[in-house]
This record gives sequence, C-alpha cells and structure tokens, in this order.
Amino acid sequence: MEITILGIESSCDDTSAAVIRDGALLSNVIASQAVHAEYGGVIPELASRAHGQNIVPVVDLALKKAGVAPDEVDGIAVTRGPGLLGSLLVGVSFAKGFAIAQDTPLMEVNHLQGHILAHFVTLPDNPDAPKPGFPFLCLLVSGGNSQIVLVRDYLDMEIIGGTIDDAAGEAFDKCAKIMGLPYPGGPLIDRMAREGDPKAFRFAKPSVGGFDYSFSGLKTSFLYFLRDRVADDPDFIEKHKADLCASLQATIVEILMNKLVKAAKQYDIAEIAVAGGVSANSGLRDAILAAGRKYGWTTYIPPLSLTTDNAAMIAITGYYKYLREEFAGLDMAPAARAAD
Ligand code: KG4
Repeated sequence: MEITILGIESSCDDTSAAVIRDGALLSNVIASQAVHAEYGGVIPELASRAHGQNIVPVVDLALKKAGVAPDEVDGIAVTRGPGLLGSLLVGVSFAKGFAIAQDTPLMEVNHLQGHILAHFVTLPDNPDAPKPGFPFLCLLVSGGNSQIVLVRDYLDMEIIGGTIDDAAGEAFDKCAKIMGLPYPGGPLIDRMAREGDPKAFRFAKPSVGGFDYSFSGLKTSFLYFLRDRVADDPDFIEKHKADLCASLQATIVEILMNKLVKAAKQYDIAEIAVAGGVSANSGLRDAILAAGRKYGWTTYIPPLSLTTDNAAMIAITGYYKYLREEFAGLDMAPAARAAD
C-alpha cells in the first residue's frame, strides 16, 4: 500500500508544506517572509502573523502540485520544535485541524531530526541518489544550531557535540550585520567570499573541549578588528569586503571541519553527511568534499532545495514515524526548545 504524507514546517520564517509518497517527493512549497529583511533579523510577532496568512494557501498549493486530494493523505507530520513558539503554533494548530477533519494520524517532528533525514527524501530529478548508510555522522549547521550527530537509525540519533553559544549560521549572520549587510547575511558572505582571499585576515578560533563548538569569540574578534580598522579608515569595510568575507568564511569552515574530522576518527565512521541551512555554503561544501578525499569518507551533501527550512524533511521524518506508528496525541503542544 502506498503511504502519502503531508508535512508542515513553520518553525521560523518560512511557511512550507510538502507531500511525499513512499519517501518520494511529490511537492515542496516554501513561502519565505521578506518582511524581516529590513529589521536585520526575524521578528517573532511578524513571523507568526505571516504564517497565519500563508499556511492555508501553501498547503493548498502543495496538495495541488502533488495531485493529491486532502482525503488521500494518510498522515500529517508537523514541526513541534525547536523554533519560535508563535510560529510553531500556527503549523501545529493547522495540522491538528487537518488531522481531525481528515481523520488521519498526526506525527510530531523535531526540526533538527528533520534536517538530518532530508537526506532520505527521494527527489524526482535524481531518484537514484545514494543515501547515507547507518551509522553515519551528520554535521548539522543552521541558524540556530551547530551539532555533530551520531545517526544510528532513522529515529535513533545522539548529539555528540553542540554549540555552547552562537550557532555557525548566527556567526555568519551577526558578522554580516557588523559589516552592514542585510539579513540573512550567510548567503551574501558566501557569494562575496568567492572574490576574496581567505588568508587575508585572521580571526580568533575557539578552544572548547570535546566535539563542542563556540562562535561568540569569533564574532567579538571580528567586531573589534573592524572597529579598530574603521577608526583608521572609515572606508575599510567597503574596500576589503571580499577579503573580509573570504577570511571569515574560511575561519568558520575550519572550526566546523576540525571537530568533524576529530569525531569521524574517534567513532571510526566514514559515512559523513552535512545538513541545515549553512550546508548551502560553498566553502563548507568544498571542505567536506576535500576531507572526504583525504580521509576516505563517503560524503552526503543535500541538494540546495533541501538545505534550508522546508517541509519535505518534516514529511520524510513523519513517514518513518508513520511506519513505526509513532503518533502524536491531539493534546501535543509545540516546544520552543529541543529539550521541552
Ligand atoms: O536551516 P536554516 O534555513 O534555518 C534554521 O533552522 O536555522 O538555516 C538558516 C541559516 C542562516 O543563518 C543563513 O545565513 C544560513 O543558514 N545560510 C548560509 C548560507 N545559506 C544559508 N550561511 C552561509 N552560507 C550560505 N550559503
């Protein structure tokens, strides 16, 4: 029997709905919210309101594109958290309403687990793409998280390292803001870094133990470095933007890769994946491929369409939960933090 899952994602500033059938993607609609750009970050109240406006048309479009009627959906999966509570509430409330109306099971999905399982979505334009074998290590790098996760099975994961302060995406975005770039600055830094010299400037690297990350020291070092240079030359940032971006990106990538290499050695695992919004970064992608050649890893980098927030990753996680009959009750409440 074919299993059709509708996935809903509304944890931050993207409203997304996707339909998958037996793990194969039929549609993945994402409505991004332009409203935050002028504020230099996501404004939670505005995000909730935009989700409220977008959720019904986005789901409607995802079902239409998939050629699936609401009563053909076998289960609905929704992001429970972590994320912005008001944003999550929109998706969760919608999913509950759908589950009641269509009398289908409801699956709650951890957003971070979703990012990792995005690797198992079968895409129509590349149906035979290889998928990670268990166990594998996943470097999960997004706007809110930087983790190394040991993935033993679809729903059996252990976080072996995390950030003790800022996430890698936050480091990109906050440093971009310091340079006067709009939010989110990560993709802009990536683009400008291509024209610059990654060795032009040096910034502080953290010394935290184990597989943990820290990025707040780098941000502070970047801020003080620029403050001193701009004091001497007000046009310093404008003149050196490409070199600043390239050097900053190289530092963030080096910090991420050092711990990943260490973890792969210690756990003796050569199946290495990367996930989350920052995995779109070209410097990080190149570094993972290079490390793969050097250490004999098989590497898995998701297609760009599945790196940033999307509901396809929520639907695939829901699919594995559906197969195991791990259903949520209608009293399920969203959780802003992963631990809640
Ligand atoms: O996974 P995601 O879409 O949202 C979260 O769940 O956090 O990640 C968004 C983050 C932002 O910090 C954004 O700047 C960063 O991913 N990002 C990038 C790139 N594309 C997105 N950072 C660096 N280079 C990129 N190409």
